Amino acid sequence: MELNRLQKIFNEKHGSSEETTLTYFAPGRVNLIGEHTDYNGGYVFPCALSFGTYMLVRKNSDQVIRFASTNFDYSSSVKLSELEHKHDGEWINYPLGVINELKKKGYEVAGMDILYHGNIPNGAGLSSSASIELVTAYAINDLYALNINRTELALIGQKAENEFVGMNCGIMDQFAVAMGKSNTAIFLNCDTLEYSLVPVKIDGYKIVITNTNKGRKLTDSKYNERRGECQSALDAINEGENSFKNLSEISVGQFTELQKLIRDETVRNRARHVITENNRVLKAIKALNSNNLSQFGELMYASHESLRYDYEVTCLELDTLVEEAQKCEGVIGSRMTGAGFGGCTVSIVAEDKVDEFQQKVGKNYEIKTGLKADFYIAEIGNGVQMLH
Ligand code: GLA
Repeated sequence: MELNRLQKIFNEKHGSSEETTLTYFAPGRVNLIGEHTDYNGGYVFPCALSFGTYMLVRKNSDQVIRFASTNFDYSSSVKLSELEHKHDGEWINYPLGVINELKKKGYEVAGMDILYHGNIPNGAGLSSSASIELVTAYAINDLYALNINRTELALIGQKAENEFVGMNCGIMDQFAVAMGKSNTAIFLNCDTLEYSLVPVKIDGYKIVITNTNKGRKLTDSKYNERRGECQSALDAINEGENSFKNLSEISVGQFTELQKLIRDETVRNRARHVITENNRVLKAIKALNSNNLSQFGELMYASHESLRYDYEVTCLELDTLVEEAQKCEGVIGSRMTGAGFGGCTVSIVAEDKVDEFQQKVGKNYEIKTGLKADFYIAEIGNGVQMLH
């Protein structure tokens, strides 16, 4: 949607005022490899997308924050003195969580009129939640000159989601949304938050995101369950003389020996995924840096297998998309991306085969699942920013 049109909607929702309205944008993200490693202190390799969340904001002197959105009917006016009050299942819990977190940290935030507009497909697992959190945190930081750096903003977004919304996510999404740079992916160590930007040089190829369009109903509870299983794996390994800080400290070689300490087979499988996935991220970055795209693709397939059989976060729809992608000519690699249980896959496809890919995968996916897939050609964009 055009920014002028958004400004018009803003005025319709909030009326006119002497105060200027500012516009900010935060992207969504896609993770290329390194799944369910972030909360285990491991490596991830996400990039920011060109679609995301727009936020128009203006100060008011009414001691309230007025939230409105072009995507949802629900709007609300929240008193500054009642920020900590949750609004059952509503989208405003994301920005509200952020504002509440800022307040808890001692930052002064006053009244504001806000309008959000998002063009990330809803429920696709492309981080619409981190996007709305970060656009809010960044805009308020700018509006009130709070001087909070991007890493800290990402951590505030994560804390809001963990504590206010109740989803125990890691740092990957918020970090990618905060730090993204066009045409690069972020190689992040989630334990230390050290990172580097790696150019995604895939001349002649496109990153294609395919949406299963399957509702992701139980994602949050299953996600939190996986976190618990990783903790059980670590506890079992540390029961004797070991004292690993997190699963990602353990190398693939060490795990061959250590795995016998984990008696529960499911828990052992979860740990195997995390440890091998971490190793795949390192190999994938080497492959990308040495222009070995086919190896990068093999690692994507291996990542999917591991998420399917060891971590068990895929589903018929995600597996079907990857299997159908693998059958297509010109496809180098494909895997589920994000939390799983639905959402999207990410594939690397030869530019001149993208149409054929969409047609074939789309058709066979519909036959096998009864659902229609959506396809997006990913453009790697910049992190959160002010537009004007
Ligand atoms: C979700 C979470 C992230 C990460 C991924 C899985 O997107 O928000 O923190 O754990 O799942 O890699």
